Amino acid sequence: MKALVLAGGKGSRLRPITHTSAKQLIPIANKPILFYGLEAIAACGIREVGIVVGETREEIQKAVGDGKQFGFSKVEYIHQKEGPLGLAHAVKIARPFLQDSPFLMYLGDNLLKQNLKPIAEAFLSQKPNAQILVTPVPNPQDFGVVELKNGQVLRLVEKPKNPPSNLALAGIYMFDSHIFEAIETLKPSGRGELEITDAIQTLIQKKFRVTVQTISGWWKDTGKLEDLLEANRLVLEMLEENSRPATFTQENSRLEGRIRIGEASRILGSTLRGPIVIGRNCLIRDSFIGPFTSVHDDAHIENSELEHSILMEHVVLKDVRRLQDSLVGQRVEICKAPNKPQAYRLMVGDSSRIEIP
Ligand code: TTP
Repeated sequence: MKALVLAGGKGSRLRPITHTSAKQLIPIANKPILFYGLEAIAACGIREVGIVVGETREEIQKAVGDGKQFGFSKVEYIHQKEGPLGLAHAVKIARPFLQDSPFLMYLGDNLLKQNLKPIAEAFLSQKPNAQILVTPVPNPQDFGVVELKNGQVLRLVEKPKNPPSNLALAGIYMFDSHIFEAIETLKPSGRGELEITDAIQTLIQKKFRVTVQTISGWWKDTGKLEDLLEANRLVLEMLEENSRPATFTQENSRLEGRIRIGEASRILGSTLRGPIVIGRNCLIRDSFIGPFTSVHDDAHIENSELEHSILMEHVVLKDVRRLQDSLVGQRVEICKAPNKPQAYRLMVGDSSRIEIP
């Protein structure tokens, strides 16, 4: 079995971060989202992976490289030049890579707790034409929704106003080569994309066998800020290590709970309450960091409080009274204005969102 990972797309709901970088590389507990998916694929025993890339292809290619770090024997980058024209379009252009092999398709911004191996094995042994994954959600109207009857897939509907069930379609699918025939018959949807839900619906109508598996642990589509923060919380919740390298220094500080700290970081006069991940070479002075916070490498945090947030590389926070529920991009600096009059002084990228008290 091969794998196809979708890492193109616009990421419009995560602007401005996605103006300059790929959303699939946003760190969750200091590791790119995409890497969780690639590790899950490698754990299934899959060795050949195609990655669909768009405008951010160079960055993705640089991060994943030849895939040896995940144990892959081959990684092929498939450039989706136009669009993004939809998930089914991404599958269509991957045909030369996939050929007639059965494959696991993984949306590169999705995160899943469950081990995928038994699900992949069920697909390979039962040999349906497609296998989908579902999970109950409180807000099915925001997802592709699956209607079942006696355990059989009856119908798939994309973001229905009146959902026929609470079962959301997770971004992990398995197909045999019949999916290509179904995609050939598709017309672009109302949003101008070739929809994978329509392709699966076509398989059902043509009496191909589509099976369903229910996900047991959590699943997150990290397309929006709230979901990213939630994914960060869920991953940090599972943090087991309390690792403190020899090069880490701590003075007059309290470190409570599970905290992972990178090489050469210094914690001075501060309180940290885990679960927290701190990257390499960070300086944290006279500050409080609360639970569910990921601070990436080279941060400089001084006289500030933060919790339930993601800080990317090289962030500077100085005299910030309290930061929470936030995603802070690379090299962002947030500090107190030095002079009167008291005012917000900003240099902010396009499509940023700032909430002020
Ligand atoms: P989405 O989150 O559905 O789409 P998007 O990335 O364009 O985001 P937004 O709606 O905020 O603009 O995509 C799911 C995954 O599939 C994501 O990793 C991007 C990838 N993708 C492609 O590779 N090609 C495509 O044509 C589309 C639509 C998505």
